[in-house]
Amino acid sequence: MGWMDRHDGRRSRERDTNNCNSKNQGGKMKKATCTAPVNIAVIKYWGKRNEELILPINSSLSVTLHQDQLKTTTTVAASRDFTEDRIWLNGKEDNISHPRLQSCLREIRRLARKRRSSGGSREDSASRILNDKVHICSVNNFPTAAGLASSAAGYACLVYSLAKLYGVEGELSEIARQGSGSACRSMYGGFVQWVMGEREDGKDSLAQLVEPETHWPELRILILVASAEKKHVGSTAGMQTSVETSPLLKLRAESVVPGRMVEMIEAIKKKDFEAFGQLTMKDSNQFHATCLDTYPPIFYLNQVSHRIISLVHRYNTYYGQTKVAYSFDAGPNAVIFTLEPTVNEFVEIVKSSFPPESNGDPYLKGLPVGPAPLSQELLSAVETDVCPGGVQYVIVTQPGPGPVESRDLSLDLLGPDGLPKTSSA
Ligand code: DP6
Repeated sequence: MGWMDRHDGRRSRERDTNNCNSKNQGGKMKKATCTAPVNIAVIKYWGKRNEELILPINSSLSVTLHQDQLKTTTTVAASRDFTEDRIWLNGKEDNISHPRLQSCLREIRRLARKRRSSGGSREDSASRILNDKVHICSVNNFPTAAGLASSAAGYACLVYSLAKLYGVEGELSEIARQGSGSACRSMYGGFVQWVMGEREDGKDSLAQLVEPETHWPELRILILVASAEKKHVGSTAGMQTSVETSPLLKLRAESVVPGRMVEMIEAIKKKDFEAFGQLTMKDSNQFHATCLDTYPPIFYLNQVSHRIISLVHRYNTYYGQTKVAYSFDAGPNAVIFTLEPTVNEFVEIVKSSFPPESNGDPYLKGLPVGPAPLSQELLSAVETDVCPGGVQYVIVTQPGPGPVESRDLSLDLLGPDGLPKTSSA
């Protein structure tokens, strides 16, 4: 399963990737390997004003997650010996002619040509490969089926890797945006806004850094995986129906989000968790309200999601302040924002409400979590029905950096023959 799946990316043909140790093309091949992060929106993007260029109806803002826990790795290679452009996603060959993939390839090559013509006649290795075909191989270190936004990290990584391959620098979020809207925000680390822009050609619809990942060191993010099933309505199709049918979405885009963007940026700059958390929850709730206002309605949240929402509000009420905040994208998994001193206790609460079903897999992944004794008073204050297995596992992470080029040769996904190193890559 790859990050193009939800946009109907079907394989044009299957190839056995084990079966390709044919020619050694090492000498003439130029390669780049990069990694890119996942981001979670705290002011949601939902709805396009231009489907082809992927221009949104409102600005949005996200937190980039640390690549130690969640990342996409992509190797791109160019060689005169390749006979066609090809792509492998999570070990399987996929459809290179997918329109969004083609947009990204075309735009990067366009930038590279522009750079070559403006740079005089200098023939460097990057410009020599401009007419070569490329091979692209991409893997996620997290299950695509877990419903985590893999297209954002996937397209951000693709665009960043191609830019390194061709030696292109500068504004790349405009190109990543044309792969998947949310991907433009994965081009930076920390806190990132996607300014919707006004122009018809999309030149001003770009991602901008609000604050780097070092700005708020205490911030932690917990991903509560409520279901590893693939979602039913993809975001691309879902938001299209919402734009066509939801009057609430129109109101949200025109009258609610502009004010929230200003408030959210201020909350982040001041590291005001109370304001940050409340806005995050309200915006997630409004996004899901627009889904319900869509006709026919779209349901992304399930019973477990609703229980997590109640749990968070009871926990905050017990303390009389916003200590944890939830956000949900186009699926039932909860993303919890909190500050470091609260992590151990809240994880303990989640465990007691959604005890792990012993299938041998670790319940906690990512940053270490310590024990926290829960008082009877707190337990009875947050008490919900115990729902064993409702949360399959929890990933504990923090804000992290944007895409990086890897110098670690062991991460290179393409072998000397220009084909994926293993079929299960
Ligand atoms: C709910 O970026 O996946 O995660 O632009 O059609 O590829 P396309 O959609 P996508 O939508 C993400 C929607 C969201 C909210 C968000 O990330 O802002």
